[in-house]
Order: sequence, then structure tokens, then C-alpha cells
Amino acid sequence: MKSIKVGLLGIGTVGSGTFNVLKRNQEEIARRAGRGIEITMVADLNTERATELTNGEVKVVNDANLVVSNPDIDIVIELIGGYGIAKDLVLKAIANGKHVVTANKALIATHGNEIFKAAQEKGVMVAFEAAVAGGIPIIKALREGLTANRIQWIAGIINGTTNFILSEMRDKGLDFDVVLKEAQRLGYAEADPTFDIEGVDAAHKLTIMASIAFGIPVQFDKAHVEGITKLQASDITYAEQLGYRIKLLGITRQTAKGIELRVHPTLIPAARLIANVEGAMNAVVVRGDAVGETLYYGKGAGSEPTASAVIADLVDITRLATADPEHRVPYLAFQPNAMADTPV
Ligand code: HSE
Repeated sequence: MKSIKVGLLGIGTVGSGTFNVLKRNQEEIARRAGRGIEITMVADLNTERATELTNGEVKVVNDANLVVSNPDIDIVIELIGGYGIAKDLVLKAIANGKHVVTANKALIATHGNEIFKAAQEKGVMVAFEAAVAGGIPIIKALREGLTANRIQWIAGIINGTTNFILSEMRDKGLDFDVVLKEAQRLGYAEADPTFDIEGVDAAHKLTIMASIAFGIPVQFDKAHVEGITKLQASDITYAEQLGYRIKLLGITRQTAKGIELRVHPTLIPAARLIANVEGAMNAVVVRGDAVGETLYYGKGAGSEPTASAVIADLVDITRLATADPEHRVPYLAFQPNAMADTPV
């Protein structure tokens, strides 16, 4: 069978990781997907760097419209970020009958409903494992592994930058600003780091997890969002003396009134596993009525960890796109849950 053809929009840290892992593990990936997966076109404003990163093996263009309108492309990977150009390109790709894989949490959390509707109408798939907790397969866990459960709550450290800042402040007694600069240098922080430190990035990811877990539309505007900028070194020290760690948690849970969505610094007893997640790592605890508590831990950012999630989506879509459409499981159909439609 012919390989499936992929167009990549934006080749930076995650894009180059995706290209490299696809190439390095191409045989295993093809075996698991049922056919080869090949990036055949890349769009990036910096065409010279894009050509270098892809070893001159792929057609490189500086106009992303050429990728989303190319009839030979089956799947578009969007790694541009933000809500402006990225949204237009994703909607154009869908309108042109292409499946979409994105790592763009801001886009899915704020415009997901419109994007999913367009995809359903067109009969294409939109996948976003990489948008939440990087390399941790949390979307797959919620959608598939825990599918027998009523999810009761989710609590997670889902922003590596703020966890790194809190860890470094506690361990090394460093100042907030110094550690933030280090997180930027290490490539954890968003282009606009206020999204990290004000809790917005975590709230984007929480919104997406809640929509999968509770079968509700994405409703970022309903989330309570509080970051770590008001914390002082003394707060961390006092918490420590009382036997607690301070972590920025994203929490969503089912209540009698509706679904809670909140991001804020939280005191966690030091003995709990999640209190001991240090540095830029992510961890998510999910409680289901049948399974009880489950914990997922791993790298929430970075080139190949995030590429791992992007490629998992490519493999899923390749399998499903190759299946008989009559028997294809809709990849992103919400099952609205009457009990749970109003975040409170
Ligand atoms: N800025 C994000 C973080 C990157 O620090 O977790 C991954 O989404």
C-alpha cells in the first residue's frame, strides 16, 4: 500500500523532532500503522533552516497555503501555534478534506468546537495528543484506556515551566525572575511566558482534558485561572515547614452543579506522589469510578517527547483513514453529557 503523505506547517523544536523520530523509527511505525508515513512537504518562513533540518529530503515552501491545498497531502500537522494564522490554516486543511494533527493547545481550547464541527461535517479527523502534557499519552488514556469509567476528577501538573520555577525556588532558593529566564533558555516556556506563569497554558490543557473526560464542549472561558506570580519564596518555605509542597495544579471535577475547571497554586501533602514531581516534568492523576486513581508521569515539553505524541496521532489517523469508512470510529465525536454541560 502507498505511504500516507504528510505536510508539516512550522518546523521548529517539535517539527524537527517529528521529522527525526519518523525517520529513525520508520519501519516500526509503518508496521504499527499498517502503511508508511512520510512527510513530503514542509512550510516554514525560514526555508533555509527548514531545508537544513530535513537534510534537503523534503520539498520546502514558505507559504503554508501550498501545503493545505496540495491534493497529494493526506494529513496536515500544524505546529505554528497561536490562534490566528494557525486557525485559518487548520480550517482550510479541513475544508480541503485533510486530516489534522496539532500540538496547539491554545487553538483547541479556544476554537476547538468550531474546528471539530467543521471536521465532522467534512468527515475528517482532528487529533491533538501533543497539545496536553507533551509526551504523556493522556488524551489516549482518557479516551480509550479509561473509557469504561465515569471520570470523577482529574488533577495535574500540566505546565513544566511553572513546576520548574517552583522546584528551583524551593531547592536552590533562587528568585522567580532568574528561574523564569532559565526556563526560557531551556525552551520550556511559551513564546509569551505570561501564558505559563499566569496559568493560562495549564488552563488550556485542563479545558481540553475536561472536554474529553466529561463529554462537554471546550469552554476555556469558564475556567478559573490563577498563576504563580503572586507567590513569594517565603510561601514556599512556610509550606515546606508545615509538610506541604506548593504546585500549580489544573483541577477538573464533576460536582452536583456541573463541571469545575480551575488552575491555581495548591498545597499538597509532601508525602503524595504528585507533590514530588520536580523540574519541568508533568504528572496527571485521574480518578475513575471503576479504576480508582491512576497516575501518568513524563516529559510535558521538548522536541522528541512532544514528537512522540504527534506521531501517535499520525499512526491513529493512518489506521482509521485506511479502515472502511462505514466502520470508522469518529475520532472526535463528543457524547454530550446532560449532567455535565456547565462548568461552575
Ligand atoms: N510552556 C509549556 C510548559 C510547554 O511549560 O509546559 C509545553 O506545553
